[in-house]
Amino acid sequence: MAEPFTVLIMAAGHGTRMHSHTPKVLHHVCGKPMIEWVTDAGREAGAERVLCVVRPGEGVAEGLPEGVEAVEQHEGEGTAAAVLAARDAVDGGSLVVLSGDHPLITAEQIAGLRAAQHADGAAATLLTTDQLDPSGYGRIMRDSEGRFQEIVETKYTEGLPAAVLAIREVNLGGYAFDAEELYSALDEVGLTDGELYLTGALPVLVGRGRTVTTHATDDPAVALGVNDRAGLMDVETRAQRRIVEAHARAGVTFLQPDTTRVEAAVTIGADTTIGPGVSLLGSTRVGEGCEIGPHTTLQDATAGSGATVRQAYVVEAEIGDDAIIGPFAYLRPGTVVGKGAKVGTYVEVKNSEIGAGAKVPHLSYIGDTEVGEKANLGASTITANYDGRRKHRTKIGKSAKTGVHTSLIAPVDVGDRSYTGAGSVITGDVPEGALGIARERQRNVEGYADRVEEDPQ
Ligand code: UD1
Ligand code: MG
Repeated sequence: MAEPFTVLIMAAGHGTRMHSHTPKVLHHVCGKPMIEWVTDAGREAGAERVLCVVRPGEGVAEGLPEGVEAVEQHEGEGTAAAVLAARDAVDGGSLVVLSGDHPLITAEQIAGLRAAQHADGAAATLLTTDQLDPSGYGRIMRDSEGRFQEIVETKYTEGLPAAVLAIREVNLGGYAFDAEELYSALDEVGLTDGELYLTGALPVLVGRGRTVTTHATDDPAVALGVNDRAGLMDVETRAQRRIVEAHARAGVTFLQPDTTRVEAAVTIGADTTIGPGVSLLGSTRVGEGCEIGPHTTLQDATAGSGATVRQAYVVEAEIGDDAIIGPFAYLRPGTVVGKGAKVGTYVEVKNSEIGAGAKVPHLSYIGDTEVGEKANLGASTITANYDGRRKHRTKIGKSAKTGVHTSLIAPVDVGDRSYTGAGSVITGDVPEGALGIARERQRNVEGYADRVEEDPQ
């Protein structure tokens, strides 16, 4: 529907059941704050404005995505108090009210809710389901002809008739309202257990002869609200499944999706295979045709197309096209691995550039270093970049080859096409094309075994 509408998200509850110093709606679901899932859905549904009701000083306003307007709830408790706090900010017209603790609501659900309200000619239409365990949710009461009458809350069940508790149809806290009708009805809502209930406006509308209808969803993910950390885990699992499925539909293969974590902002190219135990976190971007995993973590990292990354832990590093990482590699912040380069087994790289086609295959620590194109570092080549006070840089030239067990004491410059001897401790620059060798010459003690063995003690 093209008609403009506003989304109002209630996010000023205390969330006491979370037992947390962090406001409920700032808890993350798959790496993205709960509230952002809801604001994203509102925007994707085409809302002209997205407003979010927050409690002053709780930090939620600061955490809102750009363009989302924060409205402060200074007084009162309950969902009606939240909506009333936004009275002056809402321009009238069509108003969708959502709960900040139902993060898996989708743009399609919002559109469906609005379409139902429109089709029913209703002053209010609410999102419902009978596919959930109804405990704690508001139950939908209907008259003998099946028309909506009111909602009975079941957070506290004491004194509630068994017939009410047997009702499975529940309110999911998502509503499409005519804003003027809503605010006028709210003026007649009184306190229940010290709270103002938004749901109290519905029987007022019914009493005024206005139409109130329901719109059922059978997607339990959309329906799930987070009231405690068990609920958060449930939502997390379903959100994860949704993310993985979306990537799968776009051409990504997951060998063992249930052991894979892919956070909300991650991008993955087509024809990439993600193995068991892989975590793709934060702003990580993976190119096309990569092989990631098993047991690999990429955090705020990028991998170019055709890269292979196995049993690796990668943080804020860039892996070039066709590069090969691992097994058992640790790439730390500031590392850039060039096209077709290799960082192999038991290798740690920090703040270094590994040139295109260069190889660091085994047992190395490379820190604050520039490794030239096609250089090949022998097993256990180590840069000593820290003298106990300051860090120094190492430069290894193009096509240079270090022998096994080379220690490079920074600052040091190993020239293009140069070599170092195995076991060398290189403390001075090696000129282009030269061999740098820095180790004790071997000397043999003749007859040593005989001498030792004949010793009578
Ligand atoms: C509410 C509904 C219930 C429904 C359920 C769905 C009411 C009275 N009840 O109950 O029918 O089944 O959601 O999950 O509305 N909030 C504020 N300010 C407040 C209080 C709450 O902004 O003063 C926000 C919360 O941050 C939350 C939302 O409103 O995002 C819902 O509040 P919550 O306390 O979780 O309501 P429920 O008891 O779950
Ligand atoms: Mg709730």
